[in-house]
Amino acid sequence: MKVAIGCDHTGVALKRALIECVLADHTIIDLGTDLPEPVDYPDIAKRVSSVIAAGEAERGILICGTGIGMAMAAGKMAGIRAAACTEPYSAELSRRHNDANILCLGARVIGTGMAEKIVEKWFSTPFDGGRHARRIGKIEVL
Ligand code: RB5
Repeated sequence: MKVAIGCDHTGVALKRALIECVLADHTIIDLGTDLPEPVDYPDIAKRVSSVIAAGEAERGILICGTGIGMAMAAGKMAGIRAAACTEPYSAELSRRHNDANILCLGARVIGTGMAEKIVEKWFSTPFDGGRHARRIGKIEVL
């Protein structure tokens, strides 16, 4: 699967670890940052969201300190369903019920092992469709 990934300065190490291990079988579009100098998470969220909204990648991963700011910023773009997850069960339901197309992780909240479990669950879980398709159809950018 083609996956766009981005992080702010808090997520550089986790991003690298995920690309090297749990994302190794995917085609990665890495949209930065790769540096320890502070960057503003909405700028990175916009880069990744734009690629998903344009259909240039199927899924996205965004990493900041908590995952929360990235989810807030990414969710502002039409067609983006971004989920901040701290454990695999939420990651599973974000796919089954919400058809999340961007996974947001918090590098200050979870370790690499937990992040890998979340990513594995997120990529291996399909969307249930049915009533959930009707419900996500009601989510609008206002
Ligand atoms: C940066 O210090 C921090 O605010 C950011 O990584 C993120 O946690 C925002 O939601």
